[in-house]
Amino acid sequence: MIQLASETVHWDKPISIQPTPRDAGDAVSDEDLTAGLLKPPLKWAGGKRWLVPHVRPLWEPFRQRRYVEPFCGGLALPLNFIPAHAVLNDMNAHLINFYRQVQDGLRMEIPTVNDSVLYYQHRDTFNALIREGRAQSKTAAELFYYLNRTGYNGLCRFNKKGGFNVPFGKYTTIHYAPDFYAYQSALAPWTFSAGDFAQIDLDPGDFIYADPPYDVPFVQYSQTGFTWDDQVRLAEWLARHRGPVVLSNQATERICALYERLGFTLMKLPAPRRISCNGDRTPAIEVLAIRGITL
Ligand SMILES: C[S@@+](CC[C@H](N)C(=O)[O-])C[C@H]1O[C@@H](n2cnc3c(N)ncnc32)[C@H](O)[C@@H]1O
Repeated sequence: MIQLASETVHWDKPISIQPTPRDAGDAVSDEDLTAGLLKPPLKWAGGKRWLVPHVRPLWEPFRQRRYVEPFCGGLALPLNFIPAHAVLNDMNAHLINFYRQVQDGLRMEIPTVNDSVLYYQHRDTFNALIREGRAQSKTAAELFYYLNRTGYNGLCRFNKKGGFNVPFGKYTTIHYAPDFYAYQSALAPWTFSAGDFAQIDLDPGDFIYADPPYDVPFVQYSQTGFTWDDQVRLAEWLARHRGPVVLSNQATERICALYERLGFTLMKLPAPRRISCNGDRTPAIEVLAIRGITL
C-alpha cells in the first residue's frame, strides 16, 4: 500500500522474478547488460537496489531521454536501467575517479588479500596519493576498490585532514574482482562528474532521479554534511527543472511538507531498514516525490 499525497491508495507490490545478479569479475553477456543484471561493483551506504522495481515504471516512458543522477553513489539504478545517455554525479571524487577508471578498462594490479597488515599498508598508500595530489589515478582507483571491499562495512570516511580512516573490516571471505570489463561497455557512454549537485548542466528534457543523503529529523547539521538547508536547496533546484523528476528520501514530516509545497506528488513505501536509534525497530518509511510524470 502506498500513500499518494494525502490520500491512501493500493500499490501492487512489484513482481520480483529476479535472475541472479552478475558481480564484478563475472562474465556478462549483452543480454545480461540489457536485463540490468549488473550488481554495483562497490558497497555503498544508502544503495537503492531495492527501489529499482518502484522507480523503473516511472523511468520507462522516458527511456529515450538523458538520465541524470546527481547523487549517484553505487549506481544501483543506472546499472539496472542501462540508459543510453546519462550524467552521473557525486560529491565524492574518489568514487567518480573509480568509475572513470572503469570506463578506461580498470584491471586490479595491486595485491588483494583480506589481511589487516596489507589493508593498513594499502590505506597508507592511498592517503599518500591523496597528499601528493595523485588521487585521480588508476592506482588510487584500485586502492579505493580494495579498501571499499576490505574495510569496515564498506564505509567511506575521511578525517579532518582528508585522510581515509576506516578500520579493517574483519570479513571471513571477500570476493575481489580481477577487473571491471563487465562494466566497461555500460559505463562507456555515460558522463561522470564530481561536485555539488547544483553544478550539473541540465537539459530541460532530462529525467532526474535524485537520492540525497537522508534527512535526519530535528537535526540542522547531519553527520553526512548534507544539512537541512541543502535539502531545501535541492528541492527548489528540482522544482525548477522542467522535465521529469523523482526524488527519494526518508519520509520525515518536513521532507514531505517541503515537496508537497513545491507541487510534487508523494508516494510513501516501507523501506527495508529500521529506525533503530531509539531502540523501537520501527520500519523506516521512504518517500518518492514525483513531478512532471503522469501517474
Ligand atoms: C544515498 S547516497 C546515493 C546512493 C545511490 N543512489 C545508490 O543507489 O547507491 C547519497 C550520495 O550523495 C553524495 N553527496 C553528498 N552530498 C552531495 C552534494 N552536495 N552533491 C552531490 N552529491 C552529494 C554522497 O557522496 C553519496 O554518495
